[in-house]
Amino acid sequence: MSISRSSLLVALAVSCAHSFTVPRSAHHARQVKDVSELLPAYDYIFVGGGTSALTVADRLTEDAPDLTVLVLEAGPFADPASYLPVAGGGPSLTGGSPTQPVYNFTSAPQEHLDGQSYDIILGNMVGGSSGVNSMMNLRGSAEDYDRWGQLFENDEVGWNWEGILPYFKKALNFSPPPKEVADRFNITYDVSYWGSESRVHAAWPTFQYPGLDPLVAAFDEMPGVEHVADSGAGGAGVYWFPTLMDPIKHERSFALNGHYENLDRPNYHIMAEATVRRIMLEGSTATAVEFQTGKDKGVSTTKAKKEIIMAAGAVHTPKILQCSGIGPKKVLEAAGIETIIDLPGVGQNFQDHPTLVTNITHKGLLDIHPNGFDIPNNSSFRDWALEAWETDRSGPFSLGIENVAAWLPLTAVAPSLFESWATELETQEHASYLPEDTHPTVAAGYAAQMQGLAAVMRSKDTVWTRFKVNGTLGPTNPILNQPLSRGCVNIDAADPFGKPPVVNYRTLSNPVEIKILTEMLRWVRKYSFETSLKDLGPVETMPGPDVVTDEQIAKYLTHGGGALPSDYHPAGTTAMMPLELGGVVDQTLRVYGVKSLRIIDTGIMPSLPGANTCQPTYGMAEKAADIIKSNI
Ligand SMILES: Cc1cc2nc3c(=O)[nH]c(=O)nc-3n(C[C@H](O)[C@H](O)[C@H](O)COP(=O)(O)OP(=O)(O)OC[C@H]3O[C@@H](n4cnc5c(N)ncnc54)[C@H](O)[C@@H]3O)c2cc1C
Ligand SMILES: *[C@@H]1O[C@H](CO)[C@@H](O)[C@H](O)[C@H]1NC(C)=O
Ligand SMILES: *[C@@H]1O[C@H](CO)[C@@H](O)[C@H](O)[C@H]1NC(C)=O
Ligand SMILES: *[C@@H]1O[C@H](CO)[C@@H](O)[C@H](O)[C@H]1NC(C)=O
Ligand SMILES: *[C@@H]1O[C@H](CO)[C@@H](O)[C@H](O)[C@H]1NC(C)=O
Ligand SMILES: *[C@@H]1O[C@H](CO)[C@@H](O)[C@H](O)[C@H]1NC(C)=O
Ligand SMILES: *[C@@H]1O[C@H](CO)[C@@H](O)[C@H](O)[C@H]1NC(C)=O
Repeated sequence: MSISRSSLLVALAVSCAHSFTVPRSAHHARQVKDVSELLPAYDYIFVGGGTSALTVADRLTEDAPDLTVLVLEAGPFADPASYLPVAGGGPSLTGGSPTQPVYNFTSAPQEHLDGQSYDIILGNMVGGSSGVNSMMNLRGSAEDYDRWGQLFENDEVGWNWEGILPYFKKALNFSPPPKEVADRFNITYDVSYWGSESRVHAAWPTFQYPGLDPLVAAFDEMPGVEHVADSGAGGAGVYWFPTLMDPIKHERSFALNGHYENLDRPNYHIMAEATVRRIMLEGSTATAVEFQTGKDKGVSTTKAKKEIIMAAGAVHTPKILQCSGIGPKKVLEAAGIETIIDLPGVGQNFQDHPTLVTNITHKGLLDIHPNGFDIPNNSSFRDWALEAWETDRSGPFSLGIENVAAWLPLTAVAPSLFESWATELETQEHASYLPEDTHPTVAAGYAAQMQGLAAVMRSKDTVWTRFKVNGTLGPTNPILNQPLSRGCVNIDAADPFGKPPVVNYRTLSNPVEIKILTEMLRWVRKYSFETSLKDLGPVETMPGPDVVTDEQIAKYLTHGGGALPSDYHPAGTTAMMPLELGGVVDQTLRVYGVKSLRIIDTGIMPSLPGANTCQPTYGMAEKAADIIKSNI
């Protein structure tokens, strides 16, 4: 991907966003600018004002004018020009730096990735990562959610596919693709998996590049690849998916403009640029939040009458809990923090989606016009694209990141190997792939997860991998959607409050992961070189034609930059699992051993779904709101 071209797209889209005037109402929940304006106590206090927090805060306050709610968010209210454009996936990471406020710090050196450290990027603004992400919009496989429920003996709250599906429908407002585009590209959809009430939107570009024709057709030439009619159906196979954007303005639709703007709720307060240091407990009840504001980082405290709700994301929620004395005793002791609640799972079970680095281009795609390079290279195409955007926000600038991929089960990626992998994953000594001092309950949870994953290695309905295609570039980096390695996020003993947490992905620590990534590479090669795509002149520069044997590919992954630890989907660090399995919250999202404290962010996912995590977070948050409202 050429940096200058993507930056151009972004620059064009940003300048267009300025010239297109969209009226915005001034009605908001109340923005508190100074601590002196805060109430002495609130019913609910949210720690973090991101994707999950703004969703739940909206629902709690929508029909309860007497309930008082405060959201404390470390980041600012960002400039809309920095987050609204959708072209190319928005000003995200692919073409350079995002223009939105982000956390950017480095991971621990990765033992199985040649000792490399990696940049950790997270949203740091009101709206959180939903304001920074690439707006890819997926929910994953039905079986992913069923596995969450199966970790408990009793799943009365319904953390399974059937139990979360109504909340996926509540979470997003679906608009069908424009008919001409749907007919032209065979985009199918099924509205029965979607809702039409939310102010957060799922919508489609009015344009796709025709280079997608051969790429999508070639999926059908691969054995075992099926088509699924809708991305929301919970299946695995080739499917199209909408973008998290407004259907008319073709701007980012996210937690800020979908769940916060235009609310006239005096009982709902939000304070930006307020960083929570810790939760304060009286006995085992969470009663107050200590936070810092202003240039001098002055420390203040606010009390919660009913509950404190953690929503600082899977990286920062465990940090704040550990700083509050809630976490693994060993970790807290090493950092000189008094243990109030010894909860071994806090910060453990950390997961993200590993990425396989490939570069396989198909020269013939550039002979299919228009393609993405015609924006910089063909002035009449560019003028047409700009005019379409300025007129009614249609055309190529309504196109975010890609909208189609093969979301494949292992039965399709490795038909002759998945069975032996499943046996290996069932029988391996799971604890030996965790850090040496892992608590036995955390190890038990890991073993239980691996058993569940082994079972769905044999299923043709679980999404294990993602092979996305771009009509200009061809196949993009494949993603492993069901990671088998588990890392941790712990406070930095040197300065637990002041420093970012120590983030250790531990990617490739489970050797079965290497085997799967190896076959993913072989799959994408077969797709590019042994289907009709071979007529488009495929060229592989990464890893390159000399990397062939199991040993060579493993070396590429572990010592050649062939694997990246993250697709920006951190999860699992405060898992919803039984306490005996190293869980941190129960099915009502209450922290074990602590009263009046719940968690609602991606940290509660026991294991990642086969999807990017934004829609799953909205779905979980909608369900969490109902759980909190019903006071179970
Ligand atoms: C660059 C990037 C690209 C992505 N692309 C996609 C994509 O295309 N599709 C997709 O589905 N998902 C994507 N994701 C992932 C998805 O956006 C996240 O999983 C999801 O938004 C997380 O929601 P959350 O509520 O758990 O946390 P967040 O939305 O991150 O919210 C956490 C909030 O807490 C705040 N906070 C942290 N610490 C403190 C503190 N001490 N005090 C007060 N506030 C604090 C943060 O500033 C932040 O606003 C992407 C993420 C990133 C970062
Ligand atoms: C994060 O910081 C590093 C090092 O300062 C920088 O190279 C990188 O571009 C930054 N990334 C983003 C997305 O801002
Ligand atoms: C669309 O689907 C039909 C029927 O499955 C098929 O014949 C046709 O080739 C497809 N067209 C494209 C552009 O994929
Ligand atoms: C991918 O390979 C092409 C040549 O086929 C090269 O022009 C391009 O720079 C490479 N991209 C990356 C990201 O390595
Ligand atoms: C695909 O890649 C090209 C070239 O970098 C880019 O112009 C285009 O926006 C990308 N996305 C889609 C959906 O085609
Ligand atoms: C686009 O034009 C530039 C010169 O302006 C040229 O170097 C480049 O090869 C062209 N790219 C494509 C894909 O045609
Ligand atoms: C440039 O784009 C226009 C409009 O899409 C098209 O008609 C023309 O053939 C293109 N020219 C080249 C050289 O590709």
